Amino acid sequence: MGQIIVLGLQWGDEGKGKIVDLLCPAFDAVVRYQGGNNAGHTVRFGEAHFALHLVPSGILRPSVTGVLGSGMVIAPDALLEEIEALEARGVDTAGRLLVSERAHTVLPTHRLLDQAREEARGSAKIGTTLRGIGPAYEMKAARCGVRIGDLGSQRLLDVLRQQYQRIAGEITAAGAPAPPKPSSLVATCRAWAEALGDRICDATALLHRWVAEGRQILFEGAQGAMLDLDHGTYPFVTSSSTTAAGACVGAGIAPSAIDGVIGVVKAYTTRVGSGPFPTELGEQDPLLAHLRQRGNELGTTTGRPRRVGWLDAALLRQACTLNGVSALAVTKLDVLDELAELRIATGYRLGDRECTTLPADAAAAEAAEPIYQVFPGWQQTTAGTLCIRDLPSEARAYLDAVERLAGVPIVLLSTGPRREETVLLQHAVLRRLLGHRARDIAER
Ligand code: GDP
Ligand code: IMO
Ligand code: MG
Repeated sequence: MGQIIVLGLQWGDEGKGKIVDLLCPAFDAVVRYQGGNNAGHTVRFGEAHFALHLVPSGILRPSVTGVLGSGMVIAPDALLEEIEALEARGVDTAGRLLVSERAHTVLPTHRLLDQAREEARGSAKIGTTLRGIGPAYEMKAARCGVRIGDLGSQRLLDVLRQQYQRIAGEITAAGAPAPPKPSSLVATCRAWAEALGDRICDATALLHRWVAEGRQILFEGAQGAMLDLDHGTYPFVTSSSTTAAGACVGAGIAPSAIDGVIGVVKAYTTRVGSGPFPTELGEQDPLLAHLRQRGNELGTTTGRPRRVGWLDAALLRQACTLNGVSALAVTKLDVLDELAELRIATGYRLGDRECTTLPADAAAAEAAEPIYQVFPGWQQTTAGTLCIRDLPSEARAYLDAVERLAGVPIVLLSTGPRREETVLLQHAVLRRLLGHRARDIAER
């Protein structure tokens, strides 16, 4: 027991950071396995408020070791800044924050390219976070990426030249200033290698040893299932594998070593950036402003207002199947408190046809009209509720419907942004997933 993946089931920002932090007392290590600082994971407890981008959310628990796994793309400058900010706030990361030598480096040129491309796309832009994530993964796939372990190596200049040849022309053709020359990046890379020092390690071998020793590891997903490069709403996706299978690929862990998957789902839906979103509330809908304000739906990384809509249970069921989700953590129920009526999409109408999965083609998915089930609102506060019995019957009916439509039990219910504001349900399922250490979470 004890190797668990926690991932988002929608388009990101489901509240993964809060759930990972909450579960951490039952784990020895937390591993990020894909993505980079396009992620923004919020952890709050008491008056403390942290936004983590590259560092795993478990770092705020002193007994937990954080690992930035091989499948990540890491901007060392951003990582060093994040570490410094954590240390300045009293979070000691020495000896318990490690970086895989196999992870790839996001270079300043990748950010320039990301930006130049988005500008060139005009109204057809993807709405990326402009963190250079796509270009860094492209260089990796083209086999001319700079791995973290390469930052201080002899072959660095050669690889930087290969990248420059591929990238520079495209950046200048888009009207952006010429990127820095490879030779001028070498010293920067060496300084990063030195600053990261012995945090750089063979994370894959380390994780294998920890699994063999029976340590419990939590694999923390970034983004969400519907932003997956293969299975998301392509091309409006991120450039990594955000699914449970991606955890095995990115961390270098065998599927047979994984004991369970906890899927995090918001009680409604949000999305940042472009792409299909069938249940989206229109700009004129007064509920949009209400939910955005009530749920504080502004991007943790970019500050952009998030698009907001009803829960899409058809998409949720698809995400549960795709990821083999064993249990759900539902977040932000409290944001729905004031609504008189709620909706959940159960499928789509496509012309004269009905279906329960979103079409692969983005234009067809844009045209899909949701089929809704309507639920009465509870119109009383659930914020901060700690016990399922204290929830209004309408809120319980709404959650029962989520469980039934997803086909997966809810084990955690979040009723506020803070660690403390959480209901633990179905302890038997949690115990099966976490072993005897489920107790540590119950004690919080
Ligand atoms: P992540 O990327 O999945 O970790 O999610 P983000 O941190 O980007 O966005 C989730 C936001 O919702 C953060 O501001 C959290 O503090 C907040 N949040 C998480 N759970 C709850 C909840 O149950 N209720 C409310 N009101 N806010 C929550
Ligand atoms: P967390 O981990 C929400 C979105 C971007 C854009 C698309 C591609 O906080 O849930 P990229 O910069 O990755 O090339 O952008 O993916 N996106 C996210 N949306 N939460 C995230 O992370 C995201 N990371 C990327 O908005 O639509
Ligand atoms: Mg986020």
